Amino acid sequence: MSELAPTVTLSNGAAMPRLGLGTSPMNDADAERAVGEALELGYRLIDTAENYRNEVGVGRALKNIPREEVFVTSKFNKRWHSVEGARTAFEASAEKLGVSYLDLLLIHWPNPDQDRYVEAWRGLIALREAGLVRAIGTSNFKPSHLQRLIDETGVAPEVNQIQLSPLWTKQESRDFHAEHGIVTEAWSPIGKGGDLLNHPSVVEAARAHDRTPAQIVLRWEVQLNVVPIPKSSDRTRLEQNLSVFDFELTDDELAKLSALDGSGSTPADSDRAGH
Ligand SMILES: NC(=O)c1ccc[n+]([C@@H]2O[C@H](COP(=O)([O-])OP(=O)(O)OC[C@H]3O[C@@H](n4cnc5c(N)ncnc54)[C@H](OP(=O)(O)O)[C@@H]3O)[C@@H](O)[C@H]2O)c1
Repeated sequence: MSELAPTVTLSNGAAMPRLGLGTSPMNDADAERAVGEALELGYRLIDTAENYRNEVGVGRALKNIPREEVFVTSKFNKRWHSVEGARTAFEASAEKLGVSYLDLLLIHWPNPDQDRYVEAWRGLIALREAGLVRAIGTSNFKPSHLQRLIDETGVAPEVNQIQLSPLWTKQESRDFHAEHGIVTEAWSPIGKGGDLLNHPSVVEAARAHDRTPAQIVLRWEVQLNVVPIPKSSDRTRLEQNLSVFDFELTDDELAKLSALDGSGSTPADSDRAGH
C-alpha cells in the first residue's frame, strides 16, 4: 500500500483526504474492482453519485474496509431538490452503498432553471443535523449560486466540486471558496487524460521531477489547495495518481501550468447544463 493522502479539515470538522478516486464512468462491476484496488493501494476518498449508477458496485468494494476508514461522497439529481427529496436521495444512496451514513453528500448540479437548489440545500442541512451525513456540499455551483445559499440559509457548503485543471483554473471560484471556508474539489482534474498531459509545460515538469504528466497536474492541484478526484480503472495509473505527496513543484512550474487557463475545450456551464 502507498502512503495515505494527507487530509484537510472541513468547516464542520470532518477530515477529508486531499486526493480521491472518481468513479465515472464505471459500471457496478468496474467500480467494485477499481474501488477495491484503490482501497488496497491507499485511497481513502471515493467519489460516486446517483447519476453514475454504480453505487451498488462501490458499496460492494467498501465492505472490505472498516467504514470509518474511508470518506464516501455521493451526489443527487435535480428531481430531489427539496427538503424531503434530499432525505429520499440520501436514503437511496445509503442503501445502495450499504452504509448508515455518508461522509459527504453534494447537490450534483444547481439547475437554476428549476430554481429549487436552496430547498435542496435546506434538506442537506437537515441531514447533517440528523447525523446522517458528516459533511454537505455542492457541485458545479458558481459563486452567484453559492452566495444565494449563504444569503438565504446562513450556511456555506463545506465543499464545492467543480471542473478544474490547468485548462480551467477557476480563479474566481477558488477565491470565493477561500473567502467562505469552502474546500475546492476538482472533477476532470487531469483533463480527462487528454491533450493536457502532452502539453510541453506538463511534459517538461514531468521530466524534471521524474514523474508522469498526470502526477504533475495532480500535484499542481494539491499545491493550489484543491482536492482532485482523478478517475482510473488501471492499477498502475491508480497507484501513480495517488503518489503526489512526496515532491514539490517550483513557483515557476506552478505558474507555467496556471498559464494554460482557458486553453481547453469549453467547460460545462452550470447555468445551462445539469441533471
Ligand atoms: N460533479 C460533476 O458534475 C462531475 C462531472 C464529471 C466527473 N466527475 C467526477 O470526477 C471524476 C474525474 O473526472 P473525469 O473522469 O471526467 O476525468 P479525469 O479524472 O481528469 O480523467 C480520467 C481519464 O484519464 C485517464 N487517466 C487516469 N489516470 C491517468 C494517468 N495517470 N495517465 C493518463 N491517463 C490517465 C482515465 O483512463 P483509465 O481509467 O484507463 O486510467 C480516464 O480516461 C469522475 O470520475 C467523477 O467521479 C464529477
